[in-house]
Amino acid sequence: MDQKVVNTISYYINSVDSVDYNNIIVEMLKEIQKIEGYISGEVIEYISKNMYLKISFIEGVIKRNKSLKDKLCKTIILCTGPRCMKKGSYEMLKLIEKDYSHFKLETKNCFRDCGKGPNLSIDDRIYNGIDCNNIKKILG
Ligand code: FES
Repeated sequence: MDQKVVNTISYYINSVDSVDYNNIIVEMLKEIQKIEGYISGEVIEYISKNMYLKISFIEGVIKRNKSLKDKLCKTIILCTGPRCMKKGSYEMLKLIEKDYSHFKLETKNCFRDCGKGPNLSIDDRIYNGIDCNNIKKILG
């Protein structure tokens, strides 16, 4: 984790009594977003551990705040089963690892929908027929 992010969290931990608690979390998350461009699962876990907050509380704050909502770390599950691999999953795996490392990436052997592959899911929504071009449109 970036040292600036750690310093930012430390600063807000020390000033948590002085201002409205919810607003201070939002301000802290906005600063982290400015530094890293997004709020990763690692950051959420770190805040949770060091500020004694439930992860679900922090995620709730992010979801309620429009300027933070789209920056939540997403979980991508990519099919790396044999039929999807033949259709380009490997290239997408390399692209996601390189350009979208801030997303949590998992792989699955088969989505049982091979005819529509390559398949992947993002936060439980399944996308079929994905390639390296349209994955950029989906992930931004
Ligand atoms: S191999 Fe990808 S859905 Fe079956």
